[in-house]
Amino acid sequence: MNPNKTLWEKGDFTRIAGSMRESGEALVASLGIQKGMKVLDLGCGDGTTALPSAKLGADVLGVDIARNLVEAGNRRAAEHGLANLRFQEGDASNLEGLADKSFDLVVSIFGAMFAPRPFDVAREVVRVTRPGGRIVMGNWIPGDPTLVAQILKISAAYTPPPPEGFVSPMTWGMEANVIERFGAVGIAADKVSFLRDTYVFNFSARPAGLVDEFRLYYGPTMNAFEAAERDGRADALRQELVGLFESQNRSPDKAMTSIPATFLRVTVSV
Ligand SMILES: C[S@@+](CC[C@H](N)C(=O)[O-])C[C@H]1O[C@@H](n2cnc3c(N)ncnc32)[C@H](O)[C@@H]1O
Repeated sequence: MNPNKTLWEKGDFTRIAGSMRESGEALVASLGIQKGMKVLDLGCGDGTTALPSAKLGADVLGVDIARNLVEAGNRRAAEHGLANLRFQEGDASNLEGLADKSFDLVVSIFGAMFAPRPFDVAREVVRVTRPGGRIVMGNWIPGDPTLVAQILKISAAYTPPPPEGFVSPMTWGMEANVIERFGAVGIAADKVSFLRDTYVFNFSARPAGLVDEFRLYYGPTMNAFEAAERDGRADALRQELVGLFESQNRSPDKAMTSIPATFLRVTVSV
């Protein structure tokens, strides 16, 4: 049993990804993807960034630990008639089966940050990138005042502390950690650049409706609610999250949801 895999197969991230498609497309449009480029999308989910990359003509492999999301990705590739896009199961901490130096671009948007053993992740992404290629990661930032960091902060107050030695995925949102992890596999600090970027969560109903999607389908939030229910605090957790989502909603129509969230965009030249 791999707890990392169990966590992501527990829910259905497609239900959340539906609110992130526009930002995924915008991000991909900024990557300079050209026809025939070999792209690996790591922790790809059901293809929010892999699919638009393939639409630009890249030869795209999506790798994700969750079997249900790999299946959903392959279904979406077929629905869009994209023969240059395929998805397979794999672990960002160990990309066995993928050859050294085989991708021009490795993309991982809120994906590899969730894999255990961050130093192994850095080693593996560098290994499969060809010299002259690039790695682009999107990582949520710990303590950031915007949506995702705040969801995780609120949820943490309702869940038991993680086991000793657990490295928080959010540490990928701190520049010093990113430099240290890539430095350990021979990437000089001046080859790593950082940018604060924004993803917008768009949802065609009120913010409380999006909270309920997280509660029902987003593994980490499902776990927080299960723990809160055991303590009789599920209503309090929902109330805090609804308050957060409403306060961050920028939609002029309050029956709709549009919430921007800041992330750290990391670009590594290999
Ligand atoms: C927040 S979702 C983001 C998905 C996708 N990149 C997107 O932008 O919609 C995190 C994804 O990382 C995947 N993931 C978590 N741990 C992983 C690991 N060790 N190896 C590969 N994928 C992993 C999850 O299954 C999930 O699809």
